[in-house]
Amino acid sequence: MIVTIDGPAGAGKSTVARSLAARLGCQFLDTGAMYRAVALAAIRANIDWDDKQGLLRLADGVQIRLDGKQVLLDEEDVSQDIRRPEIASVIHYVADHPGIRERLIGMQRAAVVGRSAVTEGRDQGTLAFPDAACKIFLTASPQERAHRRQLDLAERGQKVALEQVLAQQQERDRRDREREVGSLQRAPDAIEVITDGMSQVEVVQHLVEIVRAAASDQDGPEGL
Ligand code: DC
Repeated sequence: MIVTIDGPAGAGKSTVARSLAARLGCQFLDTGAMYRAVALAAIRANIDWDDKQGLLRLADGVQIRLDGKQVLLDEEDVSQDIRRPEIASVIHYVADHPGIRERLIGMQRAAVVGRSAVTEGRDQGTLAFPDAACKIFLTASPQERAHRRQLDLAERGQKVALEQVLAQQQERDRRDREREVGSLQRAPDAIEVITDGMSQVEVVQHLVEIVRAAASDQDGPEGL
């Protein structure tokens, strides 16, 4: 069974999706990490961002593997490097590239073939796994998301005003929603979960219940 979790940045998807996969005892696919790994490879190759063909060739030539919490780029552990701020400032060149999206979707499907998995991203329920048995759209109000992000940054020693966090978030949302291919959208059959006022533990518990209900609705022997 495939469970897709899509939603905007800062909705707490990654942590919750990883915990959900652990609770269900299935694989977890952090698809954002794949886009980040391609962006890192491009920075290292000093790619010209306007060279769309070159970018696609580069994406075709690298191997990206997700192994538990590790992200491996050509077998090198880049889990820390892909979270650096310079990745965030160029990632739209990668995420907006239809050819790269196609290739990464192929890798995402191949990574979970024949298995149960929780996959997390922006286009998982719409494009990558349109037939998934359980689709979740996880979101929170802009204020709540910005507040959480501000706390995250503070934990990393960065003090940023809420207005600034909100402005950056609005820009990320705009890019995610206006992307020509793979834009952030709720699949018509996705269940929306708004996490304002909920703790992470409560969100995960709620998602477990949604998945169990979907699994019991599913015909055939393939449940979780
Ligand atoms: O979830 P994240 O912040 O790690 O994602 C990194 C970037 O990749 C973000 O700009 C959105 C993009 N992304 C995407 O376009 N499609 C996905 N399935 C996952 C992430």
